[in-house]
Amino acid sequence: MHILIAFGTTEGQTARIAERIAARLAEAGHTTSLADLEREQPDPCDFDSVVVGASVHLGKYQGEVTRWVARHVATLNAMPSWFYGVSLSEAGGLTADGHAAAQAIIDGFLETSGWHPVGSTSLAGALMYREYNWLKRRMLKAIVAKAGGDTDTSRDYEYTDWFAVDRFAGEIGRVQALARLSER
Ligand SMILES: Cc1cc2nc3c(=O)[nH]c(=O)nc-3n(C[C@H](O)[C@H](O)[C@H](O)COP(=O)(O)O)c2cc1C
Repeated sequence: MHILIAFGTTEGQTARIAERIAARLAEAGHTTSLADLEREQPDPCDFDSVVVGASVHLGKYQGEVTRWVARHVATLNAMPSWFYGVSLSEAGGLTADGHAAAQAIIDGFLETSGWHPVGSTSLAGALMYREYNWLKRRMLKAIVAKAGGDTDTSRDYEYTDWFAVDRFAGEIGRVQALARLSER
């Protein structure tokens, strides 16, 4: 099974998660291709299934992801597909009810696009203070401080639950294995 993992990433965490999913699927015997949608525009028809990832910035996912999904929504709905959304809300770093806020962004995106993936998940991202320019650093620190989160800008904070990423990859791998069996 050839699985495409297509993603949008602004500071790199969604790409790191895509690489982890690809590694887990490769261990399970699948062929994987990674595509940063800012740089390449793969055709989902060339794959057996597709995983899409995007991260939230100011309440929205990357435009290259929403445009790519809109362009290919009919194909995606006709094949096994999955979505993961990455955010700081999921880590509880922005609001008290972070998971609900992150899930609402996923639900809104899927509803607006008309995409019905087999599964979707909300994953916590990272605060890469040391990578941000001064404007982003100040902005994020101010927002995070209001929520009582981590504000030491001399370091980065990674909140991603890698076990949750592995569980998500495991779920994808199991559906693929069943599909492979049913083809025999
Ligand atoms: C400028 C900026 C705005 C952000 N806005 C939000 C937001 O509105 N909601 C949220 O939950 N997380 C927000 N985040 C956190 C990102 O989703 C998080 O850092 C994530 O790990 C970024 O993934 P990426 O490195 O793949 O771009 C923001 C981060 C930055 C730098």
